[in-house]
Amino acid sequence: MSDDASIELTTDNGNPRHIAIIMDGNGRWAQKRLLPRFLGHQAGVRTVRKIVDYCVKENIKVLSLFAFSSENWRRPPAEVNLLMKLFMSTLQKEIDKLDRNNIKLLCIGNKADFSPALQAKIAEGEAQTTHNTGLTLIIAANYGGHWDICHATQQVLDKILTGQLVTGIITEQLIEQHLSTAGLPEPDLFIRTGGEQRVSNFLLWQLAYTEFYFTPTLWPDFGQESLGEAIESFKRRQRRFGQTGEQVLHPSHSS
Ligand code: IPE
Ligand code: IPE
Ligand code: MG
Repeated sequence: MSDDASIELTTDNGNPRHIAIIMDGNGRWAQKRLLPRFLGHQAGVRTVRKIVDYCVKENIKVLSLFAFSSENWRRPPAEVNLLMKLFMSTLQKEIDKLDRNNIKLLCIGNKADFSPALQAKIAEGEAQTTHNTGLTLIIAANYGGHWDICHATQQVLDKILTGQLVTGIITEQLIEQHLSTAGLPEPDLFIRTGGEQRVSNFLLWQLAYTEFYFTPTLWPDFGQESLGEAIESFKRRQRRFGQTGEQVLHPSHSS
């Protein structure tokens, strides 16, 4: 974490620049209604649309959504299959709409494990929206924080071995530049719905100084009002980045 970490943390209205969400509770939402878990995932996609719309309206710069973790392959194959189909059909339906709304799509995670058709659809969505300048929408799919750090380190090593990079020192900046979120601000606000209070291998490196917000609300029930409440909670917090509260309030008294 660099010394100037407190600079430009939020947008002008105090909103977080980057919101990262673990969208949890789809299965329980469905089970409570005696429905198959998959209908919970479908309902979850409807919430995604509402949350994306809200972030566009509020001028949030980056929204990261955890859609499928590297550990989620451990679920029953039928659920994994349905999730892959839902990912594909959602991309098919939404890419043009994202594009019209000036949203830039970025999928992070180990895409090599997806079917060639899904990989191609992801690449198409990213390419079509790459020049958009509004919200950056990050979908984390087959993503794990451990994978991200290993992958970044591997890329650094490959560059050293092939002579593209000459260094004997691994710096934080060097790792950051090779993470899947390179060039984007780190999350200011982390939200997890569904009641669990854990990070489940999401953006481990990037969450170093993020504000955490946990809510028991299940993801399909989470709406624009719920996100508004999370943002209000964020705005009430004092981020200190290692400094004292007095230093944050009176920067000129720092020395
Ligand atoms: C989150 O909802 C979505 C994915 C992990 C794909 P869950 O499916 O984990 O829902 P619960 O936790 O079982 O309720
Ligand atoms: C985390 O949710 C991953 C996603 C929301 C995609 P899980 O429901 O899989 O998390 P754990 O395994 O219960 O921690
Ligand atoms: Mg869950």
